[in-house]
Amino acid sequence: MRHLMSPMDFSVEELEKLMDLAGDIEANPAKYAHACEGKKLATLFYEPSTRTRLSHEAAMLNLGGNIMGFSSADSSSASKGESVSDTIRTISCYADICAMRHPKEGAPMVACRHSSIPVINAGDGGHQHPTQTLTDLLTIRSLKGHLGNMTIGLCGDLKFGRTVHSLIHALVRYTGIQFVLISPEELRLPSYIRSDVLDKNKIPYREVVRLEDALPNLDLLYMTRVQKERFFNEEDYVRMKDFYILDSKKMELAPKDMYVLHPLPRVNEISVEVDSDPRAAYFKQVQYGVYIRMALILTLLEIEVK
Ligand code: CP
Repeated sequence: MRHLMSPMDFSVEELEKLMDLAGDIEANPAKYAHACEGKKLATLFYEPSTRTRLSHEAAMLNLGGNIMGFSSADSSSASKGESVSDTIRTISCYADICAMRHPKEGAPMVACRHSSIPVINAGDGGHQHPTQTLTDLLTIRSLKGHLGNMTIGLCGDLKFGRTVHSLIHALVRYTGIQFVLISPEELRLPSYIRSDVLDKNKIPYREVVRLEDALPNLDLLYMTRVQKERFFNEEDYVRMKDFYILDSKKMELAPKDMYVLHPLPRVNEISVEVDSDPRAAYFKQVQYGVYIRMALILTLLEIEVK
């Protein structure tokens, strides 16, 4: 039985297969409409979510399966002190597969050790968000036609943003990748990722504070919000929250084919006026998130559709 804890759980070849399957699902949705009939997905969300929870649920419903779950720790027996391991042993009696989001790093890993069904890490603290990474990879491949040979700007909260951490891990496996890390000093990418992932894999990168300095040379800009929920005090968050605001004027500095991605939710970091720019791809990204999660559910359940 297979789980998804990190994007590294899949080899590059397996990721290609997964993205090809997502592409086939997009092109032929009817072919997959009954693939998961009789199967149940449980969504165990100890932290708020719109996209990740509902896109997993939409994915299972699109496949003809059923869904169950909870959307906050308060509405589950976690509020009475139940452990993650007891919860997953219970859920294993009800469902065929589950997606878990938890504020504690490593909680989904604990779950998969006690689970008899596949567990999908739907985000654990500031650590990893592998299904967002699968979404991002599919979006980039669909828009650019390939995944290597590009300069990617990662902008915003690079310290706490788990989507960025996961994406870096996944992208360093492709040739010709360079990063521009755009963040305020306080929200720089953690040094363990710089040394263990970027330096170790000899990935060229530079760190800049001003978004304007990076924009002219990017193939792709990945914006992120400042992660309010990970700050220890409100004052620091308020000081940081509007550090970057991408607007139409700044977009004039960017190449004509530089797509803008964002895992969402956005707060103020992308002005709504950018939404009508053809390079704004963050709502397309949301749609790709459903296709790739459909492909993931089929793969983890080992269901083949002919
Ligand atoms: N991208 C993402 O994780 O969004 P949600 O927090 O709404 O699930």
